Amino acid sequence: MNRPNSHIVHRTDTHPAELLRDGLIARARNPFWLAPMAGITDICYRQLMDELGSGILVSELVSAKGLLYSSGKTHKMIAVHRDAEAMVGIQLFGESAEDITNAAHFVKEAGAAFVDINLGCPVKKVVKKGCGAALMRDPAYLETFLTKIRSGIDIPLTVKMRTGWSPEELTIHECVTAAYNSGCEWAAIHGRTRAQGYDGRADWDLIAEVKQKAKLPIIGNGDIRTAEQAQQLLKESGVDAVMIGRGALRNPWIFKECVGLDRGDSEDPCVVLDRYLELLREEYDLRNTLIYLRKFAAWLVYGYPGAAAFRGAMYHILTVDAIVQSAREFFDKVAHLPQPRFEATETFMAGGHG
Ligand SMILES: Cc1cc2nc3c(=O)[nH]c(=O)nc-3n(C[C@H](O)[C@H](O)[C@H](O)COP(=O)(O)O)c2cc1C
Repeated sequence: MNRPNSHIVHRTDTHPAELLRDGLIARARNPFWLAPMAGITDICYRQLMDELGSGILVSELVSAKGLLYSSGKTHKMIAVHRDAEAMVGIQLFGESAEDITNAAHFVKEAGAAFVDINLGCPVKKVVKKGCGAALMRDPAYLETFLTKIRSGIDIPLTVKMRTGWSPEELTIHECVTAAYNSGCEWAAIHGRTRAQGYDGRADWDLIAEVKQKAKLPIIGNGDIRTAEQAQQLLKESGVDAVMIGRGALRNPWIFKECVGLDRGDSEDPCVVLDRYLELLREEYDLRNTLIYLRKFAAWLVYGYPGAAAFRGAMYHILTVDAIVQSAREFFDKVAHLPQPRFEATETFMAGGHG
C-alpha cells in the first residue's frame, strides 16, 4: 500500500453547534436516514425511500476507478432522481485520493449533494487494496487521505465507518478526529468492528461515547429494526441522526413511522410494490426489473405464514405481471394479520459492504 508521509492539515476549530446549525446536516429533512446498501440502494430504491420519508439518501458504494475508466453502468449508479426531497449522497471507494477527487466531479455533475467515503467495508477484495475498513487501521494516514480529498472537491464530504478493525484495534475515536480535522461534515458509525462482520450486536454504548467526545455530527447505525427503537436510540445515544439499513428492507414504512406520519395510501404493500415496479421499469430492462422486484417482494412477505413457499415459487415466475399477481394473492390472504415483527434474534442479510 502506498502511504506517503504528507503533512497533516488541521481544520481550524469549528464548534460542533456551528456544524449542526450551518453544516450539511442542517439541511437533512429529518434525523432518520436510509443506510447505503450495495445492490439495493440504487436510484429506484432511493426514490422510493425518498417518497416514504427518509431524511437523507446514500447510494451503494461506487468504485472511483469504475467512474473514471469505465462504463455507463457505473455512471448509472450515481444518477440522482428528479425532484428529490431528501438530499442524495454518493458513496465512493478507491485506493487513491486522486481517483476519488477526480470521480467526485462526476458525482457533482450528477447533482448529488455530497460525497461519502466508505471506511467500513469488511469485504476481503476491498480491504486487500487498502480501501474500506482497512483505512481505519492508520488514523494518521486516514487524515492525510481525507484532507487530500476534501481539498480537491467542491461539494461536502462525509464518511461512514465501523468502530475499528478488531476489538484490539478500536480506532473509532482517532478516526472520527481524523474526519473532523480533514473537514468532513459528519461521521456515520456502524457499531461493529471489521472483525465482527455482522455478528453480535452493534455497540451503541460506544457510539454514544464517541458522540460525547466528537467535534462533528455523529450518525449512529446498526440493528435498528423498529421506529420505536430508532427514536429511542436517537434520544439515548445523543447522536445527531440514525441510519437504518435492513430494518427498512423489512419495513419500508419505517421512516414515516419514525416521524409520526401515517402510511396513507402506501399502507397496502401492493401499492408500494407497484410504485417500485414503476420506478424499475423506467430504469432497467426486463431481466433486471425481475431481479430487483423479486428481492423486494421477498423482503415484504418476510415473517408472514407461507412466506418461504411464496419466495420459492417466485423464482420460477418469469413475468412481472405474474409476480405482482402472486404478491397480491399472498397479501389478500394475510391482510387480517398484523405486520410481522423483525425480531432482534433473527439473522437477516448478515453481509454487506459496510
Ligand atoms: C446487503 C448490504 C449491503 C451493504 N452495502 C453497503 C455499502 O455499499 N456501503 C456501506 O457503507 N455500507 C453497506 N452496508 C452496511 C449498512 O449500511 C449498515 O451499516 C449495516 O447493514 C448495519 O445497519 P442495519 O443493521 O440497519 O442494517 C450494507 C449492508 C447490507 C446488509
